[in-house]
Amino acid sequence: MSGTGAPAAVSVTSAEPRSVDTDLLAFPAFEDDGPADFPGLDDAAAGEITRAFTSREFRGKIYKLFLTPVAERRWLARRIALVGAGPRSAYDTDRARKLAACVSAAARERRVARLAFVHRQGAVEGRPETSHPATEWVQAISEGLALGEFVTGQHKTSDRPETSVTQFEVVVAGAALSGLQGLADAASRGQVLGSCTNLARALANEPAGLLTPRTLAERAADLVTGTGIGIETLDERAIRDRGMRLLLGVAQGSHEPPRLLVLRHTPEEAPAAPVLGLVGKGITFDAGGISMKPAAGMERMKDDMAGGAAVIAAMRAIGTLRAPVTVVGVVPCAENMPGGGAIRPGDVLKAASGLSVEVIDTDAEGRLVLADALWYARQAGATHLVDIATLTGACQVALGRVTSGLMGRPLAWVEHVRGIADRAGDRSWVLPLFDEYRDQLRSEVADLTNVGGRAAGAVTAAMFLREFAGDLPWAHFDIAGTAWNDEAKPFLPKGPSGVGVRALAGLALSPFPPEAASA
Ligand code: BES
Ligand code: MN
Ligand code: ZN
Repeated sequence: MSGTGAPAAVSVTSAEPRSVDTDLLAFPAFEDDGPADFPGLDDAAAGEITRAFTSREFRGKIYKLFLTPVAERRWLARRIALVGAGPRSAYDTDRARKLAACVSAAARERRVARLAFVHRQGAVEGRPETSHPATEWVQAISEGLALGEFVTGQHKTSDRPETSVTQFEVVVAGAALSGLQGLADAASRGQVLGSCTNLARALANEPAGLLTPRTLAERAADLVTGTGIGIETLDERAIRDRGMRLLLGVAQGSHEPPRLLVLRHTPEEAPAAPVLGLVGKGITFDAGGISMKPAAGMERMKDDMAGGAAVIAAMRAIGTLRAPVTVVGVVPCAENMPGGGAIRPGDVLKAASGLSVEVIDTDAEGRLVLADALWYARQAGATHLVDIATLTGACQVALGRVTSGLMGRPLAWVEHVRGIADRAGDRSWVLPLFDEYRDQLRSEVADLTNVGGRAAGAVTAAMFLREFAGDLPWAHFDIAGTAWNDEAKPFLPKGPSGVGVRALAGLALSPFPPEAASA
């Protein structure tokens, strides 16, 4: 969904395929499958399944679809879909999530109201990662079904893409034996995580003229209403009172005043520690400031708050799913503009932590606002930090558009974060933070500069942040390459990806590692 309509309901059934009452019943089909792998389906479809396989119209190629009506009156489904699942050996929960998203989007485009997706397991032999419990498969499928609801074009006056699916069903053979309730919980968890990802996408896709720091604060408040999450918005004066002059400095070239959003999830039964601190970059537009960006592609900089959107949407999921741990979300919001009041290259700003920063390049604004926000999260009692930001073009150069950069310390915490993100479908790769890189941030006049030169740009940005994470375990996602999808895929439309929402929520929903107690 685009952020307006309510997401579709999802349920789990252990019914035989022929007893599933739905408009479209989708079966993943592997490349080595044949009609015999789908007992009864060929009769239901009047021979169309055998014909599709033998004519090689359908070969199980990944994301390819074959649709056919149901002819057999004892079947309750109106249409059947085979969806290509690729090689059996490569099928895992991430594939299942993407296939479900692909089918969901295809169903939406065909104005299908009720969609059912049949759970099948890939080859488990020799691939322990595919032997997840059924709950993980069902959650991933449910996430995918919800992800497929996302549409863009929210400001079109005609041809607006519409959502159509009102009901999803995940079909799990033999589910009654292994606990239907557990699977139903997994499905609704997936539905929440998928639809919250869509909410983050919708925020990132909003034009910067409409989504300013102030309106982002309002949208965040709306999004957490009724979830038990508390939200506090610090205005300019409160930001100044707390000495957050890096955030203030970035905002000062814009007519739009900055905001600092503080979201709190405080379950009564939660232990005093750990407290998870989530920090997301909320630059509602990044023109670069006085060190202005070139015009080409600058429109995309409306998504420079994608990290902040991920934190807000993850907090909504965390509240809705009643995560057992205390979480504080901090989103520093500002617009980075050139202007008569803007900060200049060479200006020195004082951070809330006390460190002084020489601003060499006003386009390296993300690390400035994050520095004060990391400090704030520490003051607010966080014991473990994770930040997420569209931080450096250098990270996009290093890892491209499929993998986020991940940096931090200690390695035990970073690896924990990476593992959870991976399982959530948010892939990342760890880059090093050796002390030697710190030399690149040396300033003649202040404690550090805000840029470290061309070499290892993603790493030096993270080294800057490290100065403000104190000695807490801290991990930093650089999503500059992954927040925006440039090329439509069957499972992901062109536009904001919603990266990080499920990873961040997953951290609050999973046990903390004991070995990552401090940096
Ligand atoms: N928001 C940008 C990073 C970015 C670039 C995100 C491309 C998505 C796509 C960030 O604020 C920025 O401008 N970074 C500079 C840092 C440089 C001046 C040290 C960059 O990467 O060029
Ligand atoms: Mn910038
Ligand atoms: Zn930026």
